[in-house]
Amino acid sequence: EYFFSKSKDFLGKKILITLGPTQEALDPVRFISNHSSGKMGLAIAEAFSKRGAEVHLIAGPIKGEIPSKFKTIHVKTADEMLEASSAVHSQMDICVFSAAVADYKPANVADQKIKKTGSSLSLSLTKNPDIALTLGKQKSQKQIHVGFALETENEKKNAKQKLSKKNFDLVVLNSLQDKGAGFQSDTNKVTIFHQSGEQKESELASKAEIAELILDQIKNVPVWI
Ligand code: CTP
Ligand code: CA
Repeated sequence: EYFFSKSKDFLGKKILITLGPTQEALDPVRFISNHSSGKMGLAIAEAFSKRGAEVHLIAGPIKGEIPSKFKTIHVKTADEMLEASSAVHSQMDICVFSAAVADYKPANVADQKIKKTGSSLSLSLTKNPDIALTLGKQKSQKQIHVGFALETENEKKNAKQKLSKKNFDLVVLNSLQDKGAGFQSDTNKVTIFHQSGEQKESELASKAEIAELILDQIKNVPVWI
């Protein structure tokens, strides 16, 4: 539908998208991670590409092949994701932070496989860098940043706090209240918050349709006009 009816309205734009989970090593054979599939990030990448943009992906470990039309850098850890994102950030017009970055990593990575000795094991974790927050501080007047939020309580308040704290132009709040929305699913239901206070709520829709909606909302950001 969009393929035929929409113009290449993002032609010449450079897009950075972080996606997927990160993996934080505990020892040579184990890691801490999460269930992010990267599907929402890939759907956004497809939408931008279809509408004429040059898409750069910083991808955590996800299942399946990533189409070669995207310029992809594969990373494992949050530190690597920050380094790869920082290296290209200044050249980008729009950045979409869809990665489910592990908030913490093991304080020490064991050189050898941790042996099963005691009856319990405590792990010491240390905070990972916040990629969106770090790059948000470096954002120029011409750049647009889009973030995501997944909340289980005080959804709207927390989403708006992330919008201002991380210097996002838009934050996309994933609804957990509807069946079919979220992490591994092919469908999603979101509310998009603008800096201006404007809000846009979607229906339960495919991730491809949600991606088109996000791109349409990006065009409402004052920087764009
Ligand atoms: N994000 C990031 N780097 C991190 C953590 C989060 O770039 N280390 C980005 C995510 O990609 C998302 C946004 O920040 O776009 C919000 O992520 P979320 O996990 O919801 O927020 P946190 O700031 O980590 O707070 P909390 O998990 O405590 O809600
Ligand atoms: Ca988090």
